Amino acid sequence: KDETVNPTGSLKDRSTSVNVSVARELGVGTVAIISTGNAAASLAAYASRAGLKAVVMVPETTPDAKIAQALAHGALVLKIRARSMAEFFELYEEACSKFGWMNSVGGVNPYRNEGKKTYAYELSEAFEWDPPDWFIMPMAGGNALIAAWKGFKELLSLGLISRTPKLVGVQPKECAATVKAFREGKEVASPISPGKTIVTSLLVSNPGPKSALVLKAIRESNGTCDDPSDDEVIEAMKLLAKEGVFSEPGGAISLAAAKRLLSQGIIDPSDRVVCLVTGSGFKDMKSVENILTKPILTEPNLESIEKAIRGHVCP
Ligand SMILES: Cc1ncc(COP(=O)(O)O)c(C=O)c1O
Repeated sequence: KDETVNPTGSLKDRSTSVNVSVARELGVGTVAIISTGNAAASLAAYASRAGLKAVVMVPETTPDAKIAQALAHGALVLKIRARSMAEFFELYEEACSKFGWMNSVGGVNPYRNEGKKTYAYELSEAFEWDPPDWFIMPMAGGNALIAAWKGFKELLSLGLISRTPKLVGVQPKECAATVKAFREGKEVASPISPGKTIVTSLLVSNPGPKSALVLKAIRESNGTCDDPSDDEVIEAMKLLAKEGVFSEPGGAISLAAAKRLLSQGIIDPSDRVVCLVTGSGFKDMKSVENILTKPILTEPNLESIEKAIRGHVCP
């Protein structure tokens, strides 16, 4: 499922649209978010369109393009000298209450999941009300997963579907607190200290109490968790690019997990599998360099073109 084509190029537009619509209805002046970049870009755009002010706090590791998006849409961007959000989450919450900003963090702001649960609606409809066997989701704090599960359960209780997909929550190997808790049979994830990874959008080292809901949803769905390496993510980015989808690492990680689970025999080749591709490659050009060859600098004449194409394309 391709989220790279959403208005600001990531999954976050689903939740932001509801979040900002409610903020406007309630007469809120300023909305705020702490983010690895995509939610910041999305909130900036929707707030601007709604005539609200936006403050976004991002760690230093945030790709420039996501910061550029937030700035372009007029948000006040606070780039915090920290590697991960866990280092300044409390500060962010303190600022929201001190300055009266509407906290737009998923799991705190109840309206966001109402937007993201549309995954369940869209997938059920696309599969003619017989949802896929697996729904594989990149996971940071796990809000999207909690929301999708809420949507599927609502459809189930309404009798619109008779079964739900198995949910797979995927985090990068170097920052996989929730995956670790799942494997250890724990009910809540403990904080971890993250390693170096190109999957910056999913860098959540302390998922907090919300992880209990994530783990519960995955287990209730009979799903699982996975944690591909950066190299596996790069291979998945290449595979997606071949299919015409330009993804950031955090988006491609679902496909990397699908390959791993298939080779481990957890997913059967006959299963119907949906991988959620959550963010565009345009948002993280530095990471995208990992899948690129170099352009061939060529003189503007046929001879040079002929020389350049040798060994690449047939005459
Ligand atoms: C590219 C990308 N994918 C997935 C997510 C999922 O986030 P969450 O698990 O908090 O819903 C994020 C969040 O920042 C993201 O930027």
